[in-house]
Amino acid sequence: MSPVPPESPLAPDDDWWQTGVVYQIYPRSFADTDGNGIGDLAGIIEHLDHLAGRSESLGVDAIWLSPFYPSPDYDFGYDVADYLGVDPKYGSLADFERLVAGCHGRGMKVVIDLVLNHSSSHHAWFQASRSSRTGPYADWYIWRDSPGRSILGAWRPPNNWRSFFGGSAWTWDDARQQFYLHTFLPQQPDLNWRNPAVREALLGVVRTWLDRGVDGFRLDVFNTYFKDAALRSNPWRIGGRGAWSWQRHVYDRDQPELRDLLAELRAIVDERPGRMTVGELFDGSLIEAAPLIAPHHLVFDWSLISLPWSAAAFKSAVAARDAAFGPGPWPANVLSNHDQPRHASRFAPAAIDPAAVAEGDARAKVAATLLLTLRGTAFLYYGEEIALRNLSIANKDAVDPPARRANFLFPWWNRDQARGPMAWSGGPGSGFSTGPPWLPLSADAARRNVGKQTRDPDSVLNSYRQLLRLRRSTPALQEGAQEVLAQDDADVLAYLRTTGDTAAFVALNFASRPATVSLPPAPSGRVWRVAFSTTGRSPAEVLSESAILAPLEALVAPA
Ligand code: NOJ
Repeated sequence: MSPVPPESPLAPDDDWWQTGVVYQIYPRSFADTDGNGIGDLAGIIEHLDHLAGRSESLGVDAIWLSPFYPSPDYDFGYDVADYLGVDPKYGSLADFERLVAGCHGRGMKVVIDLVLNHSSSHHAWFQASRSSRTGPYADWYIWRDSPGRSILGAWRPPNNWRSFFGGSAWTWDDARQQFYLHTFLPQQPDLNWRNPAVREALLGVVRTWLDRGVDGFRLDVFNTYFKDAALRSNPWRIGGRGAWSWQRHVYDRDQPELRDLLAELRAIVDERPGRMTVGELFDGSLIEAAPLIAPHHLVFDWSLISLPWSAAAFKSAVAARDAAFGPGPWPANVLSNHDQPRHASRFAPAAIDPAAVAEGDARAKVAATLLLTLRGTAFLYYGEEIALRNLSIANKDAVDPPARRANFLFPWWNRDQARGPMAWSGGPGSGFSTGPPWLPLSADAARRNVGKQTRDPDSVLNSYRQLLRLRRSTPALQEGAQEVLAQDDADVLAYLRTTGDTAAFVALNFASRPATVSLPPAPSGRVWRVAFSTTGRSPAEVLSESAILAPLEALVAPA
């Protein structure tokens, strides 16, 4: 493979958080080098050329690593037992350093996941906290007495808060004879951010990883760090699916104290040029997301992550976000992640015959065009570049802990389905592992894998590569303002991206029939010239005031 040409001069290093594309790696499922069926850091290092640095690479700007810290895996790493270590199943700190060097050597940044709302119950802090009501760690978690026993004799919890993973948010601890709070599993006790020692320790974690060379952080459920100081019960509400939605979550998240903490955390991150954070908005809306966005600090607002295959749905999601954000706050665009169904499955027709599979892949290319041309920083989820589909795993076979707790009060999607092993080749173990994989390989791995799609010029993978290259060389796509254009055909979504005197026209046909799209005049003295089409339209074709889109065609025409 030949080295890639130098980075676009349009994307100075400090702007990558805004102009760039981030690739999420779920380490358990990316590549396994020791044959235990669980991915590892060495496996990621082996596949860095897939991501950046070569002419055949995808060409992403950063990776985001889901947690790789020591963890008993009650929530597959989102229960951290040591914030500064690497779990031996993933490798060592030396492997992490090699990974950072390998990324940086390819011009790629490294964003790591910080899970600071809660630790693992195995963390030494929690063990110390549980062991004494008066020791130095006594107040590191949120402990409360019971208001008394119920008529059945059990201790009553301090308030009505629910765990997002089912049941009460409070668990009784025999050692302390008190309840502790957990927004997620009982094995994920919430840290007490109101304790200055906790604040100092967790901000120290941020500093340590910055010193170790990371370029940013994804902040797990950051808007739930603070709870109401008096721990008041949430007001009840009527309707919704499951007990979580029968409350208005006004006291167990989104507290005003968050603003000061974020300012402090951002100041630490901003001390070093080119660093960034992206906060995962927990169970919130655009209204809560908008004020938390700042330069170098993005928020996942989830506008796009559960939409059906419909131009109208995307149009209204983009309009709602534009209305809530205005021209300032910079969006983070995500179609798939480790918590949600993969969009290739979400968007695919229900049938599984070859025509439906081909139609699903055509839709995946349209979706890729949308993700990589909409205003905002794009986040890809490993495997989406080959349109990896959900695994089919029944709830009874789930390893995802909340899926195992699911019941009618707590309906839950089985997240195993979106966490399947990456398919690198059609060979044994799909090139993922030589051992039995922790989750099954996808059934279509023999024909849907990186090797095969690399060789097929019309593959989903090659669409991603072309789109990433085009985005990198087109300032309007990286940083431009966005205007959705009215169209007669309801299945067409078309928009303009403009910066300075350059522009890019994007048209997406969601229908499996031809559709007409109207174009505005190109900026003065220029023409709209096709630079990318998912259906093989001749590149360099000039478009005037209208064009016929092929079934499921997406095109980008800069001017
Ligand atoms: C959000 C993460 O994305 C999810 O995977 C995890 O289970 C919860 N936070 C709890 O940490």
